[in-house]
Amino acid sequence: MNITPFDAPLGAKVSGLDLSLTLDEHSFSDLYAAWLEHSVLVIPDQSLTELALVEFSQRLGQLELPPASETRARGDGGASLPEIWTISNVKVDGVAIGGLGNFEADWHTDMSYLETPPIASVLYAREIPEVGANTSFADMYAALDSMPAGLRQRLSDIRVQHDSAYTSVGTLRDGATKVGDASEAVGAIHPAVRTHPETNRQALYMGRRLNASIQNMPMEQSEGLLDEIWSFCTQRQFVYEHVWQIGDLVMWDNRCTIHRRDAFDSEQRRIMWRTQVNAR
Ligand code: SIN
Repeated sequence: MNITPFDAPLGAKVSGLDLSLTLDEHSFSDLYAAWLEHSVLVIPDQSLTELALVEFSQRLGQLELPPASETRARGDGGASLPEIWTISNVKVDGVAIGGLGNFEADWHTDMSYLETPPIASVLYAREIPEVGANTSFADMYAALDSMPAGLRQRLSDIRVQHDSAYTSVGTLRDGATKVGDASEAVGAIHPAVRTHPETNRQALYMGRRLNASIQNMPMEQSEGLLDEIWSFCTQRQFVYEHVWQIGDLVMWDNRCTIHRRDAFDSEQRRIMWRTQVNAR
């Protein structure tokens, strides 16, 4: 296995690995260490069945099942195992086989509205459009480390209210109630700065901007500070942008990264299989 860091603050490419075969313990622990070090790993040229994707993901930790409300049409490339979430714009008889459509997905970290959000996400590309739908990752260690002292000091003790109602493309989740403004958001509250339990490094943990608020701070002040933090931490200097190829498997650490996705042409097909991994 070869690990080549990207010319970016985070991310590395892993070559010489066939995830359709079971990795021996030694290779798996090298891969895991590289993942902790680089936060995002791209493993190209994979040819995986649903089962192989689930079995690989389960070595990282217990899998989070998609919410029961996430019912989707079956078939046409959508996954059928319950552990896999299909991310796709493809429809069968007018019903989507997966989530997020062809829309832009705004910066976020997965499921931060839960008390214990998934630590990792694994995304495997089955069909991709000719252009668009690049996925970018931003390094929340680097953003925190580079923050001007004044801003860093203002967020050292703050806790952020996260919102569970909307997806990263801004659609209301099945079964959720509309949120008029951030004061109505329902979701977990997390400190804005957290220590990564495995690397012991401090990282910014903001979840997503939509309907977030800072606890015990007047709304106007909270909005201003959140805007300042978000515009700082999403600067190009913290970002790796991934241009997908079919067969790419990308695994990222939700504790120290955020990600976003570009929109793409609705006439083109994109089918990705995703697993979400809880702590072991
Ligand atoms: C996501 O935001 O989890 C999906 C990213 C993608 O579709 O590339």
